[in-house]
Amino acid sequence: MVQPPRHSGPIVSGIVSGEELLDWRRRQLSLGGHAVDLDWLLDLGGGVGWQPLQALRLHPQRPVQLQRDLAQLEQLWREHLRSAAPLQYLVGICPWRDLELQVAPGVLIPRQETELLVELALAGLDPRAALRWADLGTGSGCLAVALARGLPRSQGLAVDLSPDALIQAEANLARAQVDDRVQLRQGSWWEPLRDAWGHWDLVVSNPPYIPTAVWEQLEPVVRQHEPALALDGGDDGLSAIRQLAAGAAQALAPGGWLLLEHHHDQSEAVLSLLSRGGLVDVEAHRDLEGQWRFARGRRPQATEPPV
Ligand SMILES: C[S@@+](CC[C@H](N)C(=O)[O-])C[C@H]1O[C@@H](n2cnc3c(N)ncnc32)[C@H](O)[C@@H]1O
Repeated sequence: MVQPPRHSGPIVSGIVSGEELLDWRRRQLSLGGHAVDLDWLLDLGGGVGWQPLQALRLHPQRPVQLQRDLAQLEQLWREHLRSAAPLQYLVGICPWRDLELQVAPGVLIPRQETELLVELALAGLDPRAALRWADLGTGSGCLAVALARGLPRSQGLAVDLSPDALIQAEANLARAQVDDRVQLRQGSWWEPLRDAWGHWDLVVSNPPYIPTAVWEQLEPVVRQHEPALALDGGDDGLSAIRQLAAGAAQALAPGGWLLLEHHHDQSEAVLSLLSRGGLVDVEAHRDLEGQWRFARGRRPQATEPPV
């Protein structure tokens, strides 16, 4: 069940002087936590971005308009320190690419490394084409929203096993006004795509891929708060990717692409699974940090010799 964001009362805005705000910031940091996180809270929870915050050091007498008053921000900060709950859940939003997505416990907080998957998916596609695409394991719907915006004449399907994730995805598709071009379906991986079997031009997925033993060692802010269903990929981290690779050559349209995100050390294994699944033009791609993070492959055209 998705919990409501913890600031469940009405949001109260306020005006303070720069001096008051900087003094408040010092007091919060003396309670613990990281300055970068507190400044994130001030930005996305309070509406005071990093640059105006820096400017206050030169002009501390300036008044500052806050989206939430200092008492509410302090409540969120203390809750974050007490429970290690991610600030994104407490504030209820997460910036990702050029989007501001709604998030809540029960859905993965979209990660920066996933942003590049959108460019890889859209590369070489004509935005005017009418394609059929799917996002398997849509979570917040981040990839589905970005694909719907990049392919305005296409129809998409966003799939997740988790009803909590689908609630957030639905809200985010509506916020981005692309909900008329993306259907939501609950189910496991390929199963909800059966009605257009063999006709999917593009399928993307950022599946759970963290090996269970690694997941067990993750920081509490992730392990205790983000859904295991979104992260734990089984003993070797590849259990979801095996299923995705195995179904692709039947589900995709001839010439259609499957594009996956995976753990930084799984590139070779994932490329091999895609090839063994019957895909061609199998290749690896790096993320913005230079890690081999993505793999893709294409279903051969009927005229191409079998692999
Ligand atoms: C790593 S998260 C990715 C979420 C989102 N696409 C993103 O990039 O932030 C994996 C998602 O797969 C979903 N999932 C796990 N098992 C699934 C299954 N068998 N079928 C469909 N979705 C599943 C999880 O609920 C989660 O939302």
